[in-house]
Amino acid sequence: MSKLFRATVTAHLDVNTGFRLLTLQPNCLVAVPDPGQFYMLQAGATHDPLLKRPFSYFRAENGTISFLYRIRGKGTRAIAALREGETISLIGPLGNTYPMPSGEFIAVAGGIGIASLFSLLGAADGRAVLFWGGRTANELLMPEAVKALVGSAVITTDDGTAGRKSLITEPLKEYLALNAHLPVYTCGSAPMMRAVANACAEVGTRCFVSLEAYMACGVGACLGCVVKIMDADYPEGKYRSVCKDGPVFNASTVVWESRR
Ligand code: FES
Repeated sequence: MSKLFRATVTAHLDVNTGFRLLTLQPNCLVAVPDPGQFYMLQAGATHDPLLKRPFSYFRAENGTISFLYRIRGKGTRAIAALREGETISLIGPLGNTYPMPSGEFIAVAGGIGIASLFSLLGAADGRAVLFWGGRTANELLMPEAVKALVGSAVITTDDGTAGRKSLITEPLKEYLALNAHLPVYTCGSAPMMRAVANACAEVGTRCFVSLEAYMACGVGACLGCVVKIMDADYPEGKYRSVCKDGPVFNASTVVWESRR
């Protein structure tokens, strides 16, 4: 059950340039999140709802919740300024979860998209084959912790500073050609997820995407985060909120052009 609560910063570390790891200790009893869920963090001291920012949770352990994030814009700069011992208000856990795969599966992360997939990898006991791409090595965060959770990992960067110099979809397509039975879970930029969804559709395997969207309320009230979904039940399409009906969707139902 999600709720509004306050939490104390117990650690706030630089990870790579422009990325930080925030660890919070809730000041009350709260629900344990499931892989794929997120929280709305209040950025700044005022209660301006426009200063709430959605963050996938990265890890929940020993009663703490941590968030791996990129510093980009006013909201995340305010959060990046939080120091140990300070408190912050947040709402969560919010949204749906990744459907837990029963066997081996493929995870495809684009850079900071690993923040959403990390908890799924952790719950899957090494059953994931990870494809992880970034523009540069700087976008591949906490690689040792990530690799420890997966059966194997394929790394790519656009500039060749880590792994193979290519888009992540190149080795993914090669792997899917031989492993089209494996379901795919992906989080990253919209163009990357769309390319992953297309690659999965070509070989006929299931693909689950965790969508990002601009969010003001996080609870389905403002309709600021809608995406068009089209499936057998709604052949004409239907708008669903990323915050309440998602963020995880079956990729084959997402009308990518409808995303704001
Ligand atoms: Fe308000 Fe999703 S953020 S409906």
